[in-house]
Amino acid sequence: MKYDMNTLIYPHEIILFSEQIKEMVTELGRQITVDYVNRDLLAICVLKGSIIFFADLIRAIDLPLATDFISVSSYNGKKESSGKVEIKNDIAIPVKEKDILLVEDIIDTGISVSRIIEHLKGKGPRSIKICALLDKKGARNPSCHIRCDYSGFDVPEKFLIGYGLDYNEKYRNLPFIAAME
Ligand code: IMP
Ligand code: MG
Repeated sequence: MKYDMNTLIYPHEIILFSEQIKEMVTELGRQITVDYVNRDLLAICVLKGSIIFFADLIRAIDLPLATDFISVSSYNGKKESSGKVEIKNDIAIPVKEKDILLVEDIIDTGISVSRIIEHLKGKGPRSIKICALLDKKGARNPSCHIRCDYSGFDVPEKFLIGYGLDYNEKYRNLPFIAAME
C-alpha cells in the first residue's frame, strides 16, 4: 500500500518500517506455532489498537486456533490508577481448558493488560500468555508486574501511530509505525 505521507498533518518520524514489522510478526508467529502444538489456543484481540497486528499474527500461526475480542475503556494514555480501566466488551467464547494468548498492540503503563489478565484469570482458562508487538518498557506503572511472553520491539516513550495505533481514531491504517513529534 502506498500512503501519501504528506497527508499526515503532524510532524512525525518513522520508527518501524512495514518490512521490519512483517519480519517480526512472522518470527512471533513461528515461536507461537512451536509453543502451542497440541494445545487449545484461543487468541484474544484487544480492540481496537491490536486489530492490524492481530490479523497479521494469527495468519503467521500455523495451528488451528480460535479467536475472540475484548475491549476496555481507554484512559487516553494518562497514568491513572488501574481501577479506572473497565471491561467494555467481554469475550464470548468459554475459556475453560483453553490456552489464552492475549494479543496487544503496545504495552505502555501496563495497566490495561494487568486489568484484562486479572479479568480473564477469573474465567479459569488453562493458561494465559501475552503477546505484544511494542513495549514502552520505561513507562511501566510500578504496580504492574506483568511479563510479556512474546514481545516484538522495545520502543521509546513517544506517542506512536500507525499499524493499528491511533491518534484520535486516525492513522490506524498506516502500514508503518511513526512517532508524533
Ligand atoms: P497501558 O494501559 O498504559 O499499557 O496502555 C495500553 C493501551 O494504550 C494500548 O493498548 C494502546 O491502545 C494505548 N496506547 C499506549 N501507548 C500508545 C501510543 O503511543 N499510541 C497510541 N496508543 C497508545
Ligand atoms: Mg490497545
